[in-house]
Amino acid sequence: MSGAATAIAHPNVALSKYWGKRAGSGRFPAVPSLSVTLSGLSTRTSVVFDGSAAADSLLLNGQPSSFGDLARAVELLDRVRAAAGEVRRARVVSRNDFPTASGLASSASGFAALTLGAVRAAGLDWDASRISDLARRSSASAARSLFGGFVELDAGPVAPTEDDVLSARVVAAESAFPLVILVCVTTAKPKAIGSADGMATTLAMSPYAAAWLAEAPRMHLRLRDALLARDFVSVGELAESSALAMHASAIAAGVIYWTGATLDVLSALRALRASGVAAYATIDAGPHVKVLVRPGDAAQAGQALRAMGGVERIIDAVPGEGARLAQASDQVDESER
Ligand code: DP6
Repeated sequence: MSGAATAIAHPNVALSKYWGKRAGSGRFPAVPSLSVTLSGLSTRTSVVFDGSAAADSLLLNGQPSSFGDLARAVELLDRVRAAAGEVRRARVVSRNDFPTASGLASSASGFAALTLGAVRAAGLDWDASRISDLARRSSASAARSLFGGFVELDAGPVAPTEDDVLSARVVAAESAFPLVILVCVTTAKPKAIGSADGMATTLAMSPYAAAWLAEAPRMHLRLRDALLARDFVSVGELAESSALAMHASAIAAGVIYWTGATLDVLSALRALRASGVAAYATIDAGPHVKVLVRPGDAAQAGQALRAMGGVERIIDAVPGEGARLAQASDQVDESER
């Protein structure tokens, strides 16, 4: 057993949103979600179990990670070590090729790559479903990034235990639904409220938490049907509705991720739609807007959004593949360790 592996994973953006956890441990979602895995952005993570290392270490984008990030990684490594009978500590080196500091979702691709890398470095011959379940215990959205294309994660059992299993699964392949996702990075960088804290506060404090928990599964089923029917406009409308409902419930609890630029992009999309371009928004736990368009409309929508004030840059993404082991040429540079 070599004790080393390098994995690559992509972020995903949820079209129907996961927001809220079941009570208890295990990061079981309170609502189902459906995402698209994004090519064009990736995380590459190498894991080396090293008998000479005194403790686990994590280098993120060339910097030693924060205590909190390291603690979350160690928790995952401990689970892998327990399953594999591995006793060595690990050296983990991870890099994103997209701007992490700007608040773009990185925990999904980060934990998907770390989970796959750690499982393989420990010599475990697990399938993607089992790895997805393990990734979910670190970050529920990461369970979806194990798979490519359009991916669904069910809500967890009402009273979950650590022994319950919940993995994501593919609903439709990458090529099944032609889509471009314009990731609009907005200028303003407010102090981030992590998604785990944001969703916990929403469920505890929002007067609309119960409405969100009741409505989200219905939106999810409608969106899933629209996707399978290849109905672009319904998918776009439902994705935007899911994001707006999630944020409305959060905002009512004082959990506000939007900035003026977020609202400006939403208005620009309304104007684009009025002019006949089907462009829809989805927004995660940050100020940035991901715009969903048909491939033939991407250039026009991108031009309109680039011309706006508050959009700093746009990253073009299309449905991409799931997490995988890196080829030899993708290995993380030794100098980064
Ligand atoms: C708004 O997966 O980051 O992006 O499970 O606590 O790690 P944890 O939360 P996380 O939450 C993602 C929230 C979201 C919606 C989504 O991706 O479904």
